[in-house]
Amino acid sequence: MINDKQIIFSGIQPSGDSVTLGNYLGAIKHWTKLQDEYNCIFSVVDMHAITVRQEAAALRKNTLSLLAQYIACGIESEKNILFIQSHVSAHAELAWILNCYTQMGELNRMTQFKDKSKKHPENINAGLFTYPVLMAADILLYQTDLVPVGVDQKQHLELARDIAHRFNSIYGDVFTIPEAYIPEKGAGAKIMSLQNPTAKMSKSDPNPNACISLLDKPEDIVRKIKRAVTDSEAEVCYREGKDGVNNLLTIYSSVTGISIDDAVKEFSGSGYGDFKLRVGEAVAEHLIPIQKKYDDLMKNKDYLESIYKNGAEVASSVARRTINKVKKKVGFIVG
Ligand code: TRP
Repeated sequence: MINDKQIIFSGIQPSGDSVTLGNYLGAIKHWTKLQDEYNCIFSVVDMHAITVRQEAAALRKNTLSLLAQYIACGIESEKNILFIQSHVSAHAELAWILNCYTQMGELNRMTQFKDKSKKHPENINAGLFTYPVLMAADILLYQTDLVPVGVDQKQHLELARDIAHRFNSIYGDVFTIPEAYIPEKGAGAKIMSLQNPTAKMSKSDPNPNACISLLDKPEDIVRKIKRAVTDSEAEVCYREGKDGVNNLLTIYSSVTGISIDDAVKEFSGSGYGDFKLRVGEAVAEHLIPIQKKYDDLMKNKDYLESIYKNGAEVASSVARRTINKVKKKVGFIVG
């Protein structure tokens, strides 16, 4: 499975019913274009998800659902390693070891920890604090070259690089130093909240109209986009300060493949009502075949099981090489 192409690793947490349009347009849709050029490893990171309290049955369901969503979006199990993080025990093992090579001060500086602690003051657990170390383990286990991440994960990736450098400087070249994968211009667009277009679209947004999910019904998608916050002008154009309209143009361009410039031309003279309706319809139309494939996959649990079992086996065999090397280096007796 792993040949001499570069290795890419990424993951999404199964915390919620379905991924957002933002996850899809900003990440997953782009991942499908990497699968021929790279050795891609995509994980459903259930161990990260429990840093926030989850209901067991819901987590199990969401984990399988996220795997099905990956595949429905076009990530092919034959071309990539698709697996569930907790199925490969080397993640937990390496995370523990790397905890001992990470400073409290480094983790204290992580802005996501500060944000999440504020959001969940009742559950500031140690896992939330060492979350970035588990993420570093995910990446370093596979000798990953490139990690496609959004801006909110840049700081975590930097930390993974620092930990890898530190470990290598003590023990020699154990880990590949990962780099951020910056997609070509226009790809991996950042999708903003429909209700507050200066903030990222997020499934944890309390306002249900702020976020579109991959599995939303077409009529809900159209309705949410109809209600999207724009501005008091009446001109569809892409310009600084027009965050709401810019966001809708970005969404439209991403789902149709039409450039933003061409989209602006297409909508010149249109009012916002008409513009929003066409954006909503374009999104709904784009998602219909994905949703159909998702429904079929969820009816075939045996098939999904065969994919995650096989993925775990292949991932484990790659991870084993790294974890054994690490154990030897730190002085464990490797049986
Ligand atoms: N922390 C990432 C997020 O919430 C998810 C993640 C876990 C990840 N491990 C990773 C992303 C490794 C890239 C590489 O978005």
